[in-house]
Amino acid sequence: MKKGFILWFTGLSGSGKSTLSKMVEERLLERGVKVEVLDGDEVRTNLSKGLGFSKEDRDTNIRRIGYVAKLLARNGVCAITAAISPYQEIRDEVRRSVDGHAGFVEAYCECPIEKLAARDVKGLYKKAMAGEIKHFTGIDDPYEPPVDPEAIVHTGDEGPEQSCARIIKTVEMLGLVPPVPGDDYGIDEEKAVAARLRDLGYLG
Ligand code: ADX
Repeated sequence: MKKGFILWFTGLSGSGKSTLSKMVEERLLERGVKVEVLDGDEVRTNLSKGLGFSKEDRDTNIRRIGYVAKLLARNGVCAITAAISPYQEIRDEVRRSVDGHAGFVEAYCECPIEKLAARDVKGLYKKAMAGEIKHFTGIDDPYEPPVDPEAIVHTGDEGPEQSCARIIKTVEMLGLVPPVPGDDYGIDEEKAVAARLRDLGYLG
């Protein structure tokens, strides 16, 4: 059985986690990889129904997502998670708990909050800035960017195709999915992914 892994997206609300998780899912399905997406908004309507946005509730939400993702990954599935997951400590806790049974790949959707607030797809930044929503991540609640994510995508500057390609290349180079001969990812981009993974201690 192919080793499973967790692809853990993190980033502010509206930074592209859901969009990219679905794109990556499609690409991996085409390659015959078993995939399941655990999306923050969806998880909060079932698995985490009733939880709010205090630190304690967010931590519980993330631990639940991590737990399910781990079960999936242990059974050869690529579990893609797309929750803000604002705290480094809890993301690290999930990473540690995966513990060699599967891979853990952190993908940071980086986008300046000014751009997210200007775009405001769900209209929540406006409400948060008006004080109508309290404890909104990035406005009056913390977001801790990952220290050493395996992949960083700049969703304010680059298109989703480019971000998706970098993430696919990352999991490919980590040996978690089979490479596709002749894919058209640029050689310079490919070198940048390899350099990043080497810096993090992968690739020998
Ligand atoms: S997490 O912090 O526990 O990881 P999660 O990803 O599940 O958050 O949910 C975030 C989504 O909930 C946002 O995209 C947004 O649609 C909605 N939301 C509602 N209130 C808040 C809030 N106070 N902070 C952040 N997101 C909120």
